[in-house]
Amino acid sequence: MMNIESIKVLQKELSSLIGVSGYEDDVSDFILKKIEKENLVDKAWKDNLGNILAVKEGTNGNNRILLDAHTDEIGFMISHIENKGFLRFVPIGGWDTRILLGQSVVIRSEPGKIHRGIIGSKPPHLTSLNERKKIVEISDMYIDVGMDSKEEVVKNNIVIGTTGTLFSPFAEFPNNMVRGKAFDDRTGCNVLLHIMKLLKEGAPVKDTLLFNFAVQEEIGGRGAITGAFNLKPTVAIAIENTTAADVPGIKEAEVPAYIGKGPAITVADKSIICSSKVNERLVKNAELDKIPYQIKKPMYGGTDAGKIHISREGVPSSVVSVPCRYIHSPTSLLKLEDILNTIRLIDAFIRNSANI
Ligand code: CO
Repeated sequence: MMNIESIKVLQKELSSLIGVSGYEDDVSDFILKKIEKENLVDKAWKDNLGNILAVKEGTNGNNRILLDAHTDEIGFMISHIENKGFLRFVPIGGWDTRILLGQSVVIRSEPGKIHRGIIGSKPPHLTSLNERKKIVEISDMYIDVGMDSKEEVVKNNIVIGTTGTLFSPFAEFPNNMVRGKAFDDRTGCNVLLHIMKLLKEGAPVKDTLLFNFAVQEEIGGRGAITGAFNLKPTVAIAIENTTAADVPGIKEAEVPAYIGKGPAITVADKSIICSSKVNERLVKNAELDKIPYQIKKPMYGGTDAGKIHISREGVPSSVVSVPCRYIHSPTSLLKLEDILNTIRLIDAFIRNSANI
């Protein structure tokens, strides 16, 4: 079954898990358990880096189609513990430094305990007018977890290397819009899991389907490299979240994608010039099935496809993204229909991927 409700339920579950780059186990274990419990594919396993790889054998097709979505999210790592219990941190992935101050955070200490914190810096009452005009650097911020001493922090298993991210609970907005953290790229994971369900329930597909729920995208597509090498695809699509800057103050020419206009097909970003053959096939399927779609304006961002297309002897690849506002901020906003239409487009593509 695939509908707005099933998409929303899974989006909430995936979004609430914490999986900063390199520490994706909560997310990947959730995904692997789901695949195994629902018996969605022929084979699924966790590789040496932590990727969840999966294979669904085709009937008699020539292609091996890889669908990739990343499990990690941007966050931070504790780099120093002050004697009074305050934590210094370094970013993991590309945060907009301007929005960090005053945010609530969640820190995940082993074995899976969640602690709350607040990002602070020198209070405004104690800063000069000049200081207040400047952007506060991350190195001048700290996390306050309400603990009194370094000893108390360490006793709680918060150590150098412990990771965390900004706190942002899932919520429903009008018009099937939802808000939450880590939509980049739990949304892609949601799409892949729904595609697996459709494969299980629908007619058999000719081509072999390969899946990589990839680790460490946010720090350079590292899981995508080993996943693509292992799975040997002949065609690949990275399923992503992309910036929908359809908000006040942005010129039309500079809006990469729009909310509510369906999946955004990338022609080029900073990491890849997408395969025109794959894109032609995507567009053709969208038009045949009357699925709304949009072409994302170049050259914003980079994705796992940047690594996959130069794997082995080269893999014709593209990127299909769910448009999302406020990406790489504490909270993102997207429209559930855009996820639904992305699933529809990918499902149509894999059932009719000939001549690539
Ligand atoms: Co992403």
